[in-house]
Amino acid sequence: MFMLPKDETLHPKCQPKNFFIYGATMSGKSFFSSYFPHPLVLNTDGNSAQGTAPSIQIRNIRNEDGSLKKGCIEQLDEILTALQQPGVTYQTVVVDVIDDICVMMEQDICLRHGVRTISDIDWGAGYAELNACIQQFVMDLKALPMNIIYISRELEIVDEANKKKSVLPSLKSRYYNIVNGNCDLVVRTFKIGSQHYRTVTDKRADYKPEDIEDKRIRQLLESCQNMFKKN
Ligand SMILES: Nc1ncnc2c1ncn2[C@@H]1O[C@H](COP(=O)(O)OP(=O)(O)OP(=O)(O)O)[C@@H](O)[C@H]1O
Ligand SMILES: [Mg+2]
Repeated sequence: MFMLPKDETLHPKCQPKNFFIYGATMSGKSFFSSYFPHPLVLNTDGNSAQGTAPSIQIRNIRNEDGSLKKGCIEQLDEILTALQQPGVTYQTVVVDVIDDICVMMEQDICLRHGVRTISDIDWGAGYAELNACIQQFVMDLKALPMNIIYISRELEIVDEANKKKSVLPSLKSRYYNIVNGNCDLVVRTFKIGSQHYRTVTDKRADYKPEDIEDKRIRQLLESCQNMFKKN
């Protein structure tokens, strides 16, 4: 018979594992992520060669006639299968930039269906497929015994009525909800003068420094404003 868990109150150590980092260009998103333990970067913007972490360039590869040879959905699937194997020493996967991955998945679906835009696929089936792909990607990453970092750019919104500026991650809100629903911590990077800063804009729980087992991650989080409550 199926064994139910014992009926008791648990006291788990609460530590973040899935991170969402956003910020303006050159504000230090990739730099900050590269200090996480044993990172592997899934790169989309082609500037990974400048980083110190091993990286894989994610892209849609086409045939000479423009048709799809190998799409990013298949490529990401292969990478995730490889990461699930025993003996993998990576401890962090950095998705740099998640906005681009969503756009590439959309292109992949359009090319496979032979349409120009995803809305050309009948009955909203293209959007449903795209949502399912993003959801699957995020769930597969979450299931890995590793830290996952999603990097997004930043969007500045000016409210004309009261001239107030606000900044948001540039990831489209319907994808942001899928990704962020699976994240524990949202960090914004920004630069004032030549100084780089990081601030926590959202967190799943009130994390305590003593609960963060990995010393390196604790130090990285301690360098973020608003991360830990000051006693
Ligand atoms: N905390 C920091 N201290 C010192 N230098 C930093 C810091 N963060 C970033 N830098 C420097 O700033 C530059 C830009 O950083 P980085 O490449 O991480 O930006 P980014 O936000 O990923 O930009 P992009 O959106 O263009 O990818 C790099 O040269 C990096 O070395
Ligand atoms: Mg970067």
